[in-house]
Amino acid sequence: MKVKTRWICQECGFQTSRSLGRCTECGSWNSFVEEMDSASIKTAAQPLIARNLLGHEDASGPVCLDEVELERNLRVSTGVEQLDAVLGGGVVPGSVILLAGDPGIGKSTLLLQVAQNLAVSGRLLYVSGEESKQQVSMRGRRLGVSSKNVLIDSEQSVLSIREAMVKAEASFAVIDSIQTIYHPEISSAPGSVSQVREGAGLLIAHAKSCNLAMIIVGHVTKDGSIAGPRVLEHLVDVVLQFEGDQARQFRILRAVKNRFGSTQEVAIFSMSENGLQEVLNPSAAFLGTRLEKSAFERAASGTAVIASAEGSRAYLLEVQALVADSALGSPRRVANGYDYARLLQILAVLERRAGIFLSREDVYVNIVGGFQCNDPAGDLGVAIAAATSALDRSVDPFMIAIGEIGLSGEIRAVAALDRRLKEAQNMGFKSALIPKSNLSAETSFGKLKLLPVESLTDALNHVMPGFNMKKQKKAEQESLVT
Ligand code: TYD
Ligand code: MG
Repeated sequence: MKVKTRWICQECGFQTSRSLGRCTECGSWNSFVEEMDSASIKTAAQPLIARNLLGHEDASGPVCLDEVELERNLRVSTGVEQLDAVLGGGVVPGSVILLAGDPGIGKSTLLLQVAQNLAVSGRLLYVSGEESKQQVSMRGRRLGVSSKNVLIDSEQSVLSIREAMVKAEASFAVIDSIQTIYHPEISSAPGSVSQVREGAGLLIAHAKSCNLAMIIVGHVTKDGSIAGPRVLEHLVDVVLQFEGDQARQFRILRAVKNRFGSTQEVAIFSMSENGLQEVLNPSAAFLGTRLEKSAFERAASGTAVIASAEGSRAYLLEVQALVADSALGSPRRVANGYDYARLLQILAVLERRAGIFLSREDVYVNIVGGFQCNDPAGDLGVAIAAATSALDRSVDPFMIAIGEIGLSGEIRAVAALDRRLKEAQNMGFKSALIPKSNLSAETSFGKLKLLPVESLTDALNHVMPGFNMKKQKKAEQESLVT
């Protein structure tokens, strides 16, 4: 039989019968690889892939939602409180979780650490395609894992892995990593779209059919997509993403997809000699030495504190900005941990609405601790950090700034204000700039003094007494003339 081939975009999985220089679907260049058509693979495994992905024989047709019997205590705790919260309360038996992150960020470490707790209620099979049994066992022992219920295996063929799962009668399986496993009947290299799709498809179908909870590790490529094969995201129930980089101490785990819970929660870990440790008070960890300042000291110039709301919690983060004369025709703007487009917008508003001239300055903004803040309520703090750096002023270290900045320089209302204020109060902060549209009267929240502000200039007046927009503008015009 003639083996049919097809060309598959390694970025998005788009298929054609001939090679294209540029993918018509996702626009990436030179991303096509020729692979064998799965219809011409004669494997015995094929029917398994096609089998009901729900995993049970739901042959009896529709039933009333209320009448479906639920098992009690469905979830299994990982023993790590924050990880359980990210999962929505623990691992659901029979679910498939994809754990994605940069190589070296700590995926294998985390999974080995939770293996023992998962294995309390059933056997866990840890399959490594990257390390030998000795290496896994050595690392496991160093991390203090000791359980008769944790089995380790070093294997790369999906057919052997499936066999091992059956033999071990496992209730949990960890596949580390999807890029190293292969289906022996597919000719393309491990890590390619067909290998990942068929290999993972086979394992997932098997897991679902015997109610086995499976965690699949996936390395992320440079551009942030889950190792080319985005295809996996649709096949699994939960996608967890590990952020932060190796050089930084903090590792942030969030769910980007979750069929069994919200995608709002985050878990924060720090990497230590004994593996990953939960950071129980993230705000204190992120703020660091700022909290040690005495009440009479000022913060360093160009810093401010923002509160980022994530799920049921809020985190206080320090923003640092550096504004410096640029030697370049088009000045540099660098945003670490904050949205780049938002930063550009904030700088434009600072210039047009508050008269702080930045278009000939380089601006660097950094959120301390490696946290990626995607919450627009951080705008006001970023603006204050940039403005105080430009004018070489500083703010009260125990003041927090909350508010989204609109294009006309207005401070817009934010969600979850109470949660942010509560965190600030717990951390011993003294005052908070908040949007007037959230709360118009000057009041207090426990020991926290609330300062409602309507506009950016309003806020700058608060933090830099004597700040005068007109004077700023005039000074700039003079500097332009000279
Ligand atoms: P690892 O879990 O192997 O990363 P991944 O599986 O995501 O590729 O983590 C590797 C890094 O973690 C490595 O650079 C060393 C560091 N590490 C520690 O600092 N302490 C430890 O106890 C362990 C096990 C690893
Ligand atoms: Mg690893």
